Amino acid sequence: MSSLGDAASDLERVADRVPAIARDDLLRARVRAAFPTLHARFARLYGDHPDAFEHLTAVVELAATSWGERPQPLRDLDARREADPDWYASERMLGGVCYVDRYAGTLTGLRERIPYLSELGLTYLHLMPLFECPEGNSDGGYAVSSYRRVDPTLGTMAELADLAAELRGAGISLVVDFIFNHTSNEHEWARKAVAGEPGYEDFYLIFPDRTMPDAYERTTREIFPDDHAGSFVQLPDGRWIWATFHHFQWDLNYANPAVFAAMAGEMLFLANQGVEVLRMDAVAFIWKRLGTACESLPEAHLLLQAFNALLRIAAPSVIFKSEAIVHPDEVIEYISPGECQISYNPLQMALTWEALATRDGRMLQQALDRRHALPDGTAWVNYVRSHDDIGWTFADEDAAEFGIDGYAHRRFLNDFYVGRFPGSFARGAAFQENPRTGDARVAGTTASLAGIELGDDGGEDRVVLAHAIALSTGGIPLLYLGDEVAQLNDYSYRDDPALSGDSRWANRPWYPADAYASRFDEATPAGRVFARLSRLIDVRRRTPEFAGNELVPFHAHRDEVVGFQRPAIDGSGAVLVLANVGDHPVGIDAVTFSGLDPAAHDLVADREVGLATGLELSAHGVLWLRVRPA
Ligand code: GLC
Ligand code: GLC
Repeated sequence: MSSLGDAASDLERVADRVPAIARDDLLRARVRAAFPTLHARFARLYGDHPDAFEHLTAVVELAATSWGERPQPLRDLDARREADPDWYASERMLGGVCYVDRYAGTLTGLRERIPYLSELGLTYLHLMPLFECPEGNSDGGYAVSSYRRVDPTLGTMAELADLAAELRGAGISLVVDFIFNHTSNEHEWARKAVAGEPGYEDFYLIFPDRTMPDAYERTTREIFPDDHAGSFVQLPDGRWIWATFHHFQWDLNYANPAVFAAMAGEMLFLANQGVEVLRMDAVAFIWKRLGTACESLPEAHLLLQAFNALLRIAAPSVIFKSEAIVHPDEVIEYISPGECQISYNPLQMALTWEALATRDGRMLQQALDRRHALPDGTAWVNYVRSHDDIGWTFADEDAAEFGIDGYAHRRFLNDFYVGRFPGSFARGAAFQENPRTGDARVAGTTASLAGIELGDDGGEDRVVLAHAIALSTGGIPLLYLGDEVAQLNDYSYRDDPALSGDSRWANRPWYPADAYASRFDEATPAGRVFARLSRLIDVRRRTPEFAGNELVPFHAHRDEVVGFQRPAIDGSGAVLVLANVGDHPVGIDAVTFSGLDPAAHDLVADREVGLATGLELSAHGVLWLRVRPA
């Protein structure tokens, strides 16, 4: 047993115990570079722990062993990424996401779809959770029973590693979830913890009676109230265990350094299978403290930074994507080169839908104006919708600047998107309506939410507009595969008892074979949407201004118009993006363009556009204009 001293002498002590460090120059350099960070995070997280030094040594040893086992092609990838650290901010990046079973049946089936993914231009593929999980409801695989075994109905870990290699060969980075806040109740650690096996008792948060659960629940939020009230569920023996999400997803106790070490082992294992991006699931929830909301506590960041430091040693090309669907002030805190290099952009996503419902782009414009900037070396993942519900995570204080009451506005948006609001074009489903708090979120595919399911005239335009925004604001645009052929909600989940309680399955359809078959037939919605999105994707890839994250607001002085410029690196000009979220054409005055050379080029239509007399934007229209200063 020993505690931590200063970083320099602790590094000497660790090096004495981990002989690989002396033997391998590259490893030694990386350990030296990452150790101060790792040490400092350990000191703050576990400094009071009697075995802090042993745990720190153990994780460095784990990283050293993992590096020793890292396959040569992945070491080559590490070197390539080191030479091109901004790879994920390139204008050529395009992400896709799908469920293996729903999109392709199995991992083998997915390999057969690689030609299509390449045709689409993907460089990033997020496969939804594919690990061993409980039968029946497993929260779509977000209840993991083993991080080292693939769900046998999908394939094997060896097949996953082969798939990763094949994708890499096609220029596509494999992304999988790192579901590290909780495991399933069937995970070996969970079974041992409940049985009180030495070494595992403190892996989870288990309490003998309601005293502590009641105390915590005074300040925690209910995430899945349809499943259970509060943050705890009762075990058959009467004790209570922390379960933020479903009753079968048990939160790990990261105050225990053995939990950190165990999860680090799983993370490094996945990195060596060829996973290039880990989607860090539910990051906000990983640290708990009595009297707080137990969300986004400072220790959550320290943990992520410590995990990140281990990757810099053992698998330096791997990056983290943060999944923090929380207040925008909190979302941004997870994003830095030393923590999560990329992050979902839930605010832009939600406000795109907000703008389409209200036909008023001001909140989205405000978010682009003041909440888009990121630290160097990081990028947004910009998406139109995900496998999850849409939550209205805008800041109430931002809305208040327009005289909008956040609570009432969320109610309106929920009513609008579940089709309860008169005249709504949307066909969504309510998710987790909480009568006690009035809270709810919305489920639905892009096409159904945008009006195609209802047959609204603007439906296809809205699908294109929403994607045009995600494709032009920088970072990695992420498509939910099937949305590019306008797939509609899938209501079949209602007949499956394991899924019927979770309306998010409406927006997780099975592979839309018919829509794909007609993707070149412009007499169909699938064909028209596919043609228009393909064109946008193609233009984006050839537009260097769309790389990186720099964005300069452009105010068209029309409430329904969202505008911004993406400057060229050489200062020669910019791409001006103008989007009309309204249902009617809108004119923009010539004076608005007075700072620009009147000769602009419409990149999507590939034609010259004059700005001297102003411009008309069609209903739900988007323009990508290459402009120069006057
Ligand atoms: C993430 C996933 C969501 C899941 C939850 C619990 O938020 O996106 O689908 O229910 O984590 O793991
Ligand atoms: C909550 C969580 C978020 C998760 C979602 C799943 O909003 O904050 O992390 O994705 O639930 O529906």
